Parts: sequence; C-alpha cells; structure tokens
Amino acid sequence: MNRFYSRNYWSIGFQSRLYDGLTPESYFESMRRVVTYLPDGDSLSLLDAGCGSGILIQFLEARIRKGLVYTGTDLLQPGVDRALIRAEELGVEISCFQSDLTVPFPVDVEKFDVVVGHFSLYTLASDEARQAALENLKSVLNTEGLLILVNPSVDYDVDSIIERSLELIRERQGLLSCLIKQFMIYPFTKAMGLRFIQKQLRLKEWKAYSREEFIQVMERGGFEVVHLEEVYAGSAFLGVGRLKHSA
Ligand SMILES: C[S@@+](CC[C@H](N)C(=O)[O-])C[C@H]1O[C@@H](n2cnc3c(N)ncnc32)[C@H](O)[C@@H]1O
Repeated sequence: MNRFYSRNYWSIGFQSRLYDGLTPESYFESMRRVVTYLPDGDSLSLLDAGCGSGILIQFLEARIRKGLVYTGTDLLQPGVDRALIRAEELGVEISCFQSDLTVPFPVDVEKFDVVVGHFSLYTLASDEARQAALENLKSVLNTEGLLILVNPSVDYDVDSIIERSLELIRERQGLLSCLIKQFMIYPFTKAMGLRFIQKQLRLKEWKAYSREEFIQVMERGGFEVVHLEEVYAGSAFLGVGRLKHSA
C-alpha cells in the first residue's frame, strides 16, 4: 500500500484535484514569496520546473496578462494536463510539456530569465539526481537569470504548517473560513498529505535540507546564493541564486 501510495501520490492528487483542494494556505504563501523575487519587466520568461498542477500560474496570473511568458514542465502528464486546464480556466496563455528534470532538456528548449523549482527537486531519488536536475536547469537559464528554489527543511513540522495556515486564513478570509478549514479540510490535508511527506523526509526517501546544505547544493551547482529565507512556517527554505561567472 505504502509503495503504491508513494509511487502514485502526485498523479492521484492531480487527477482527483485533491492536491489543489487540500493544499494548506502557508504553501500558497510560499508561492507568493517566490513571486516577490521576480524581476520587474513585462516580457520575462519563466520556467516552472516540476510545475505539478500549475498552482503557481494563479499567483502569476496578473504578470502573465502583462506579458510574462510562463512555461511549465513536469514528469507527470496528469500534472501537465491540470496546469493547461487551469490556464484555460483563468483565460491566460501558457505552455506546458512533459519532461524528466534529471535528463537534459530537448536542444530546442529556449533559455529563461527565471527558473523556479517550487518543492520539486526534493522528491528526486538521490543527491546525484538532484545535482543532475540542477545542471539541466542551469543549462536553460539566461546568463543573467535567476534560479528560485524552495525545498523542505530539516525542521519540517506538520502542526506548524497547519497553525500558520489557519492564521493566514483567519486574517484574509475571516473566522468562518478558518473554522471550515480547521475542521473539514485540514484534517485530510494532514492525514493524506503532510504526514506522508514528513514520513518520506524522515525515511530520507525525499530530501530535507539544513540551511547550510541548501546553500552548499546551490553553490556546488554553480549558483551564487543572493538570498535565503525560511518559508512555509519554518518548514522550508526559499533560495534565490544567480549563475556564478568565472573571473
Ligand atoms: C510537491 S510537487 C510540487 C508541484 C508544484 N511545483 C507545486 O509547488 O505545487 C512535486 C512535483 O515534482 C515533480 N517531479 C518529481 N520528479 C520529477 C522529475 N524527475 N522531473 C520532473 N518533475 C518531477 C512531481 O511530478 C510533482 O509534480
């Protein structure tokens, strides 16, 4: 059961839309933080690497309408399909294709001004696979471009994620929405999502980072870390990197 669940976890979530429905508010908050690091400019090109169901598109909607060119890619076709449907529902144009981040991109893939990996690299099977993915992302980044990565931290904590999410909902949507989330939605978020992820991290099936390790991995991948912060109620790090240029 556990093997079936871990192998099909994302696909089932994307197809059933449970992934979107159960996502805690502090995860959306992490995406909002990502958006704040995007450079100004209307015609920015952005690759969402491991885009899943394309939730980030919602937070980029206004920028896309002004000219930002969004491209998503994911290993799983159900994720790609959901991202395309989401864009259609929002009435914005995007492109999205299926690919494996650990193998080189097709040669005709353009270069991007920004590459985002929001909670995607940590699910790869080994340090080597994550390093290979980083190399591939580097190869499609413009020389002056930005890499924005978000990955879980070693302090990943289900209760803090839910507590912070409830605070955010109360502030933004009021007490009733908060109570609905607390008693009708988040118990499932915990049981079907966050606890499973926490277990995968503890078993080292997926990767949780310390601050130092997060920086080290980006630097080893050829990036200078220009910013690092905690997001997701202290359960993840957001790092912004620029390509190192040899003197
Ligand atoms: C936690 S989800 C994050 C999805 C999305 N970025 C978000 O924040 O909602 C992890 C995503 O990484 C994708 N992924 C895992 N391994 C991959 C690989 N080798 N190549 C491309 N995508 C991969 C999964 O299919 C899944 O959609």
